Amino acid sequence: MYVCLCNGVTEAMIVEAVGQGARDLAHLTMMTGVASNCGSCAEMAEAILHSTQLSARAPWLGAAMPVTCAA
Ligand code: FES
Repeated sequence: MYVCLCNGVTEAMIVEAVGQGARDLAHLTMMTGVASNCGSCAEMAEAILHSTQLSARAPWLGAAMPVTCAA
């Protein structure tokens, strides 16, 4: 699923960046380019970031924490 249309960043790319050490939106932006243009994807990118971090820390919660975005 594309998260950032401006830069062609997918959910999988964000998950991979988190696995490689991205810990906040600034890191994600540096590593993937997400949210570096119009910024409309920032909220969704952060939701995926936090969900991925939570799943890594508490994998038993992963299936119960769907990524949602109010935008
Ligand atoms: S959709 Fe991501 S910067 Fe525009």
